[in-house]
Amino acid sequence: MAKEDVFKNLIAHCKEYGFIFQSSEIYDGLSAVYDYGQNGTELKNNIKTYWWDSMILLNENIVGLDSAIFMHPKTWKASGHIDTFNDPLIDNKDSKKRYRADDLIEEYIEKIEAKINKEIDKAKKKFGDTFDEKMYRETNPRVMVNQEKINILNERFVKAMKENDLEDLRQIILDYEIACPVSGTRNWTDVRQFNLMFATEMGSTANGAMKIYLRPETAQGIFVNYINVQKTGRMKLPFGIAQIGKAFRNEIVARQFIFRMREFEQMEMQYFIKPGTEKEWFEHWKNVRMKWHKALGFGDESYRFYDHEKLAHYASVATDIEFNFPFGFREVEGIHSRTDFDLGQHQKLSGKKLQYFDPETNKSFVPYVVETSLGLDRTFLLIISAAYHEEEIKKEDGSLDTRVVLKLPPVLAPVKLAILPLVKKDGLPEISRRIMNDLKYDFNCQYEEKDSIGRRYRRQDAIGTPYCITVDHQTTQDNTVTIRYRDSMQQERVKINKLRSIISEKVDMSSFLRKLDKD
Ligand code: GAP
Repeated sequence: MAKEDVFKNLIAHCKEYGFIFQSSEIYDGLSAVYDYGQNGTELKNNIKTYWWDSMILLNENIVGLDSAIFMHPKTWKASGHIDTFNDPLIDNKDSKKRYRADDLIEEYIEKIEAKINKEIDKAKKKFGDTFDEKMYRETNPRVMVNQEKINILNERFVKAMKENDLEDLRQIILDYEIACPVSGTRNWTDVRQFNLMFATEMGSTANGAMKIYLRPETAQGIFVNYINVQKTGRMKLPFGIAQIGKAFRNEIVARQFIFRMREFEQMEMQYFIKPGTEKEWFEHWKNVRMKWHKALGFGDESYRFYDHEKLAHYASVATDIEFNFPFGFREVEGIHSRTDFDLGQHQKLSGKKLQYFDPETNKSFVPYVVETSLGLDRTFLLIISAAYHEEEIKKEDGSLDTRVVLKLPPVLAPVKLAILPLVKKDGLPEISRRIMNDLKYDFNCQYEEKDSIGRRYRRQDAIGTPYCITVDHQTTQDNTVTIRYRDSMQQERVKINKLRSIISEKVDMSSFLRKLDKD
């Protein structure tokens, strides 16, 4: 099945099994805003725990924070968001559709890249093991022409973005004959800047209401609390502050399900360091964060780094960790070297000293910052799309059937085990309840007695439950049950008193975290 069709099925699956609903669906929904259902919330909470514990438990010099969404409006002047947190937008006069001008150009570049990759794949097949990709890229005339086209365009594009040259952005779209995907025409408006922050008012108008913003990143809550945490926690450089919370951006084009939303959650960590050590810490956090992602087990080849040429206003160096989503490689996390930009700006606009006194050198200075910034919803999408499988399986009568299974890392699964009495009589429900009452303190368990055992297994596969425990008549004789493993569908008979240790071995967060500490 084509990747786009599988992605459509995944979106339907998320709704059918209580993972994600469109916000305000009964009123026909609100664009690019989503709610997490009963299973989605559990999965999301488990992702948060994985991130939070990896920051707070594994690093004695990282502490947590929970700052407010509303902040003093000067925060956003200082951070540069009022002046520069803009996207260049352009409208097509025929389709009346609105686009980000930079997206249109990037998609055009991606199309040329796809042509190059197609050419390379063909050559790989033809030459087999002897294929030398580097040499092919440097000598094949068609690849070279396309690569040169990308290089020239990229240089012009990066310059226009850096210099905020909206006229040239439009001219690039015209020069390269980029057409509207809907109308197919090149009848474009001018490019205009559009600020992404949502504004609202605080206080009553009569008393002079104040215009405030919904935070577009959680990081600023950390910067303005830097001195509070440093002083009250007696923190010494280097140290980090981690936070999980909502952020809001009025995205011009929101698409690909929960990939780009208007209300979303971030998991950010600001690492405060001595100036001059930023290169070393940037490399350190790149590696630590990549390891965190790869430990989820979705295949190392699914991730890559992408170094930014086009930098956000606060960054001196930036790298994205990209994942191969069903719609291609896209950013899931940003690692940014932010220098002393934010603290320096807040110091200037607030008039408060935000310096660190170094007892070793007897000098005070504004610390530098390396941040790791992960989108929680994007991580959710990464995990659920990598875990989603439509498998063909053989039924007992030999015919073929499709099973939909979420192969989630057990530690993240919303429900860890389902307890299923084979029939609703002969004392089997009572034994099942006793097992559940014993295990519910350790694991999220589900009890199910309706429908055939096969159907119940399928429902649990569909939400990613790693273990199904079936209580049958033999249980009443010898205190054993069958345990069925989600991925292999293998079953084995085990003693009831062994269940806790078998299950905790795979779903225990602390064992999972230990993997991160190994080299
Ligand atoms: N503090 C730095 C910062 O906010 P960013 O690259 O703009 O950097 C960090 O955002 C991460 O937040 C992204 O890698 C992405 O995972 C997530 N993110 C950003 N905008 C988003 C949106 N509209 N919807 C969902 N996630 C988003």
